[in-house]
Order: sequence, then C-alpha cells, then structure tokens
Amino acid sequence: MDIASLKDRDLLSMADLSSEEVLGLLHLAREMKADRVQLRASKVLGLLFQKASTRTRVSFSVAMYQLGGQVLDLNASMTQVGRGEPTIDTARVLDRYLDVVAIRTFEQQELETFAHYAKIPVINALTDLEHPCQVLADLMTVQEQFGSLAGLTLTYVGDGNNMAHSLLLGCALVGMNVRIAAPAAYQPNAEVVDRARQIAADRSEVVITPDPQAAAKNAHVLYTDVWASMGQEDLAATRIPIFQPYQINEELLSIADADAIVLHCLPAHRGEEITEAVLEGSQSRVWDEAENRLHAQKALLACILGAA
Ligand code: CP
Ligand code: NVA
Repeated sequence: MDIASLKDRDLLSMADLSSEEVLGLLHLAREMKADRVQLRASKVLGLLFQKASTRTRVSFSVAMYQLGGQVLDLNASMTQVGRGEPTIDTARVLDRYLDVVAIRTFEQQELETFAHYAKIPVINALTDLEHPCQVLADLMTVQEQFGSLAGLTLTYVGDGNNMAHSLLLGCALVGMNVRIAAPAAYQPNAEVVDRARQIAADRSEVVITPDPQAAAKNAHVLYTDVWASMGQEDLAATRIPIFQPYQINEELLSIADADAIVLHCLPAHRGEEITEAVLEGSQSRVWDEAENRLHAQKALLACILGAA
C-alpha cells in the first residue's frame, strides 16, 4: 500500500489523496485499531480551531498522544487569531514551532492560504467546503461492515454541504457509487461534483438528485448530517420545513438495501435530519464511525509525520 508518499504532505481536500493512498490509510488504521502497530512520533501537533468540536479535537489529541507526540490546543479565542492577526502571519510563525497543524475554519481559501505560507503539513479538520478526516473514518466503517468498498452505494440525504463534498470525492476515490439527495437550492458545489465525476470516471456513479426515495433505493449506506452547519445556526428554523422530506427515518431506511447501515458524522439533531429510532436502531453504526475518527487520523498523522 502506497503511504510513504504522504510524508510531509498537506491534506486540504479529500481530492488531495489518490485511491491507493486512501486504501493504504484505511489498511494502516485497521492495523492500528487491532493494536498491531507501535509508533513513536515525538512531534507536536497544533489544533487551530475557529469552530466548536468534540470528536475532531479529542480524536486528534488522543491519536497524537498514542503516537508518542504532544498536542497544543490553539483555540482561536485564546490566540491572536481571535483578535484578527492575519493568517499569513500566524502561518509563518506557527510553522517555526509545530511539526503539523490541524485547522478548523470557515473558508477553504483561508486553509489554503495557511498551507501556502506554512511549510509544515496542514490538515483540514473541517471547513465550510470539506471534512476529509471524517470521510476517512466513514470509509473505514463501511469497509469494516462490508469487507470492501468498490461497487457499494452510499446515499447522502440532506444539505449539500462540507460532508456531502468530501463524501462525493472519497466515494469516487474508492470506486463507490455516491448519490446526493438534496433540495434544489441546497445541492452540492458544482465544481466538487465535476471533480468527483472525473475521479469516478467509468468505475462508479455520481448522482445528484432532489429525490430522496429514488436515491435511497438499494443503497448500502444511508448518510446524513445537520441541516444547518456551524455558522448557519440562524437559518436552522427556516430550513426545517424545506429539509423535512430528507429526514432519515424508518420509511426511508426500508427503501435501502436490507443490510444497509446508517452513518452520521455527529453531532445529530434527533427528530430533524434523523429519527431517534434510526440513530439508535440496529442498522446504525454511528458510534463505530465516531471511534474510527481516532484510528483513521492516527494513521494519517503517522504517515504525514513519516512514523508509519
Ligand atoms: N464529526 C465531527 O467532526 O464532530 P466534531 O464537530 O465534534 O469534531
Ligand atoms: N456540516 C457540519 C458538520 C459537523 C461535523 C458542520 O459543518 O457544522
């Protein structure tokens, strides 16, 4: 598996990875989950977050500790970032102290600017455009369930947001069919869809539709996310009636493959994008999915730091 190529690399988008690198990372993550790999990184990871986080912050921190490294929490409100110090200055300074940085911010452009000015590897820990680390854990969870990835169908229902974008790219990279069902005004970014179609080529299908029932038919994975992402909270109430037909409930799940699993990146809003019965039901794999954030990011860090 080709993972040596990841050393010193940025991960700004799911599309920064090749198919071989995704499969290599998933293999290493499985080995790490089974405790078959011992590593000592002895490096420092900075977490520069401008939005709230439970899973990403904690799983990155624990992953780094388990690799023998250290973590610095650089919450925007405790640094000069929160007082408006320019990204280009912060990037060049943190570059002198840290070995790797994971950034959670709003604009993808800000992440890219940081990566341009910092020589250390920069990892996208969520932007408004993408959430690639979540998708590594999602693919790992699907692989654990079905044994392989190519040829399976993942259906995402809801907002055409950062999760939809990284799932489009990630599924295309591993040869999975991906269907996004979103209301007409909330469909995913056209450039990301085109990129996913290029990656999928003739190996798998990329379908964008406003019809959740058609998209869910025979799917192996049903996936959803909140209807209003971080930074859009004031739009939440007005979106509820628009997104109601896109809820993952038992009726929608009955249209999917009989062995289908349900994933959600979390945090979940029970009764909105997913019902309590489905989230807590026998087909839900959301807790394994959340656990896999740790294993997938540990594999990613080990590769980027050259410790794998
Ligand atoms: N799924 C996810 O990224 O969760 P957090 O926002 O808690 O990090
Ligand atoms: N789309 C959500 C994902 C949270 C993990 C958000 O950006 O808030």
